[in-house]
Amino acid sequence: MPVTLDALREDALTCIRCPLAHEGRTQVVFGVGDPRAALMFVGEGPGAEEDRLGEPFVGRSGQLLDRLIAEELGSSRQQCYIANVVKCRPPGNRDPRPDEVATCRSWLEQQIGLIDPDVIVTLGKFAGQLLTDRTDPISRLRGRTYSYGRATVVPTFHPAYALRGGAEPLAKLRADLVRAGQLVEGHA
Ligand code: URA
Repeated sequence: MPVTLDALREDALTCIRCPLAHEGRTQVVFGVGDPRAALMFVGEGPGAEEDRLGEPFVGRSGQLLDRLIAEELGSSRQQCYIANVVKCRPPGNRDPRPDEVATCRSWLEQQIGLIDPDVIVTLGKFAGQLLTDRTDPISRLRGRTYSYGRATVVPTFHPAYALRGGAEPLAKLRADLVRAGQLVEGHA
């Protein structure tokens, strides 16, 4: 088993374990940020821009995420770590399928193990359900915290939902990030 994040990335970049490898991905989008970050974000999967650039959350959702990290946490994507549940773009931005999530989860689990964050903010349903091991909708998952190994999990909405949904989801997303920041402070 790889013992550094760089070694894990090397392995992941050639992954062909699930159908997404052959369904039009340009590249594996492994993750970005500080390999020793106290705060980690986990989204759903790469979109078109992420697939093109090889970095998570660089499209419209990512721009909102960057802004919220700055405004609510006084931080930046370089100071956190950002990854996704699935590392390859589902064609046409469809939802990742259960078998794809099940196959890809070991990459995420190893990432979390190596980064060892204090707090994990899950963005949207797929990451929220995976890391809380629950099937509740995101509206029911959010508003409380969960444990994932040593880390505290803060489920919140996906930024794409806040972009579509207007003021209320955005306010809740902001509040959840503030809470995550407090939890990081509390761990220190
Ligand atoms: N949405 C996600 O869930 N992840 C990305 O990397 C980009 C958009």
